[in-house]
Amino acid sequence: MCGIVGYIGSKDAVNVVFKGLEKLEYRGYDSAGIAALCENEICIRRSVGKLANLKKNLLANHIHSNTAIGHTRWATHGKPSEENAHPHTDSQNNIVIVHNGIIENYIELKNDLHKEGRLFKSETDTEVLAHLIERYYDGDLFCAVQKTLSKVRGSYALCVLCKHEPDKIICARKEVPLILGIGTGENFIASDIPALLPYTRDMVFLENGDIAQVNREKIAISDILGKEVQREKKHILWDALQAEKDGYKHFMLKEIFEQPRSVEDTFRGRIYPNEGKVYIEEIKLSAAELKKISKIYIVACGTSYHAGLTAKFWFEKFAKIPTEVEIASEFRYREPILDKNVLVLVISQSGETADTLAALRLAKENNCQTIAVCNSIGSSMSRESANTIYTHCGPEIGVASTKAFTGQLCALYILALDFAEKKGTLCESESCKYIVQLWEIPLKISAILKKSEYILKIAKELAHKKTFLFLGRHLNYSAALEGALKLKEISYLHAEGYAAGEMKHGPIALIDENMPIIAIAVKSRVYEKIISNIEEAKARGGAVIAIVNDCCKEVEEKFSKTICIPESDDIISPMLTIIPLQLLAYYISTILGCDVDQPRNLAKSVTVE
Ligand code: G6P
Repeated sequence: MCGIVGYIGSKDAVNVVFKGLEKLEYRGYDSAGIAALCENEICIRRSVGKLANLKKNLLANHIHSNTAIGHTRWATHGKPSEENAHPHTDSQNNIVIVHNGIIENYIELKNDLHKEGRLFKSETDTEVLAHLIERYYDGDLFCAVQKTLSKVRGSYALCVLCKHEPDKIICARKEVPLILGIGTGENFIASDIPALLPYTRDMVFLENGDIAQVNREKIAISDILGKEVQREKKHILWDALQAEKDGYKHFMLKEIFEQPRSVEDTFRGRIYPNEGKVYIEEIKLSAAELKKISKIYIVACGTSYHAGLTAKFWFEKFAKIPTEVEIASEFRYREPILDKNVLVLVISQSGETADTLAALRLAKENNCQTIAVCNSIGSSMSRESANTIYTHCGPEIGVASTKAFTGQLCALYILALDFAEKKGTLCESESCKYIVQLWEIPLKISAILKKSEYILKIAKELAHKKTFLFLGRHLNYSAALEGALKLKEISYLHAEGYAAGEMKHGPIALIDENMPIIAIAVKSRVYEKIISNIEEAKARGGAVIAIVNDCCKEVEEKFSKTICIPESDDIISPMLTIIPLQLLAYYISTILGCDVDQPRNLAKSVTVE
């Protein structure tokens, strides 16, 4: 939700900030803006809509400056409009701010500021911050920001410039991420790593409550009370090219095709098929502690939640631990029974999703064991959780998650095997068998990706339909949910994922010749059952496109179309069945001319409740 960038140095600051915003546009694209210090004045350019509009604005009205801040917005308070676009200023245009997050007590603060005669130009919560800083400013911007932040409730990552102190940017974070990029004679600020990678790999991840003064030559970080704090500098190994499209038309397509590599990167060094062993260095949970775990709660949102639904089977089958999977926004507001023998496992690509983070904090308050499965290095969840397993997928830019999903499945599968090993719940030959299954996944994904032309053909036949039913059972029920979610997210078509056996209790009433059914019918212990469910649907006129293992005549005759994928043990099959569904959603979206990488109303990192 919203991306911010700041730069101070000797380069063309507006250009650096704009390029950084391009890398963060996945965080919101309702409007964008940049403020720069130019001959002791603050110059601002803002445009509604995507960054392309701001680019035109900047080309027509360039600003020459070495110090700038910028913002790309996902609207929360106030509609997408130029007035509500960041940056926002105080009443004298001396101070300018960009902000990601929500100021929860902004109405109360705004009323007070109104009474002081301060006039507001926008409907945003952010503008109160600019006015408060003005109120407290007496020649020291750092102190004014500090006093302001002591008055606000809510979440923020922010950058502030003041025309009276042109040698610095003040920034701060609470609950939402902010990273400092360390250069030589220049420094950078951004919401996420990809914006900094073209310039530096040395990064400092600000902690909750940190306020930093960023000059060209140095950075100084203090806590909310002004006490200096030291934060470790991390060297990030991500390849800058991973954040580029690399010849693909869209990030999503590139990320779908990256999956053989991202899965392999996630398991490399963690599984040893010859010895039948798994090794996860990051998990500090001992065998004795693990044996005491009475229950696992997997908590996540969106696609990560679907990865959790799949992983439940693994924790129960391999490690014999009862596992429940919950949507984070539900979990955090009920009263789950939590104690030190409960393991709360959060899954999040970004590691910043507000509801999942709150669930993790709830778990910690209740002394639970905690593990986070994250993709973003240094994210809030990875820092706050007692244990973190990273998926090594590299930056995921497409708003619809693809490679992060298979990366999460891979990490969770290994984790469940690790638990089984520690608890002694699987014999060596079984462990070996399951490890080999994972080892073979990248090659099998590559084989499916070779069928993309064929899947495009099917997409062309389906793109004019308005509503879809995705059916799966057992482990592939979650793949059906994820396939439907992909289609909804990027094509704006109605798609419902359903447990095939449950279809006869409602959705079957919807089926007619206008509703295609996408069915996952790979070999599994419920194969015959799902075939019967599909027959029931077919009998009502629905055209069935089935994901199957054997493309023999007998199977083909049953369905209108089949997509044949390599066989695997059914326990790991969602890592394969999801691939054609991702491609199908991608192609339907492009045929309909939708914005694949930046679908309307969505954002990649949801840092608000
Ligand atoms: C948003 C994204 C989804 C993602 C979900 C959870 O809705 O658009 O793609 O699955 O957030 O994000 P997380 O970073 O916690 O996995």
